[in-house]
Amino acid sequence: MGFPVHRMRRLRRNEGLRRLVRETRLSVDDLVYPMFVVPGEGVRQEIPSLPGNFHLSVDEAVLVAREVADLGIPAILLFGLPPYKDEDGSSAWDPEGPVQRAVRAIKKAVPGLVVITDVCLCEYTAHGHCGHIERGQVDNDATLELLTEVARSHAEAGADVVAPSDMMDGRVGVIREALDEAGYSEVAILSYAAKYASAFYGPFREAAGSAPRFGDRRGYQMDPANGAEALREVALDIEEGADVVMVKPAMAYLDVVRRVKETFGMPVAAYQVSGEAAMIKAAAQRGWLDERQAVLESLTCIKRAGADFILTYFAPDVARWLAGA
Ligand code: PBG
Repeated sequence: MGFPVHRMRRLRRNEGLRRLVRETRLSVDDLVYPMFVVPGEGVRQEIPSLPGNFHLSVDEAVLVAREVADLGIPAILLFGLPPYKDEDGSSAWDPEGPVQRAVRAIKKAVPGLVVITDVCLCEYTAHGHCGHIERGQVDNDATLELLTEVARSHAEAGADVVAPSDMMDGRVGVIREALDEAGYSEVAILSYAAKYASAFYGPFREAAGSAPRFGDRRGYQMDPANGAEALREVALDIEEGADVVMVKPAMAYLDVVRRVKETFGMPVAAYQVSGEAAMIKAAAQRGWLDERQAVLESLTCIKRAGADFILTYFAPDVARWLAGA
């Protein structure tokens, strides 16, 4: 029986009714804030391609981490811009690198804040690719060894979670093994399991200085056209020891988020990437949409699709909005 017995609008009449039947609730518990650490001291420079986000020296990163924790956000994700780059990205596992120093300082100053580190090489290699180059291609197996060095150095610094974002085959397994051997069996792996070769990383590459100097990343990141393949990627990462699996980007890949959650029932993260943030920011700056509403809607929908938590450049704003500020 349909209309007029059934009227869907009855429960939409006022906010009290809407609250009672709301299926998805965005909370500060769902947020991870990505941060960019640079060499130097006293540096807090706004990133042109990511308005509201900053290049931070370690001392400033500690201050921001404290603000983030005070807002109730459970975790941050650290990226590093190194003082030097070379062929294999050796600054990525330098114990005195920006990320390693930031992890130590933040874990000391704000011990309750979960520190996740991005494990990749593209910010550290002179050519901007995510691994060791052999005959113009990223060599998968040679790269694995380098990635384990990076992950181990982050664990040594005190990272709670390492997040490999390189998309090499087999990296979760070798990282798990290396961490266990080094005595870091409690350090979790958040794997960028279904990471697509996306145009939406543009603003990040400007922020991280990590655009490839030649070619593109389609030889290792996934083809945006593929969904079933994402399930295979995720299944393999789970087998290799991933604790949390990520889908990235988020908004154009909500079907993948849903399928991963339903298929595996694992903790699923989704990354609202730089290009997604930039689109909202740019439109809001032109007065074409309401930033707060657009951000809250997009994050709520990412959660509705099945994400357990979301990495987002809006995390501090969202925490303030949810707290009613
Ligand atoms: C490093 C990495 C990238 C992002 C996260 N880790 C860039 C890339 O793969 O080119 C993108 C994050 C964003 O766009 O916000 N491999």
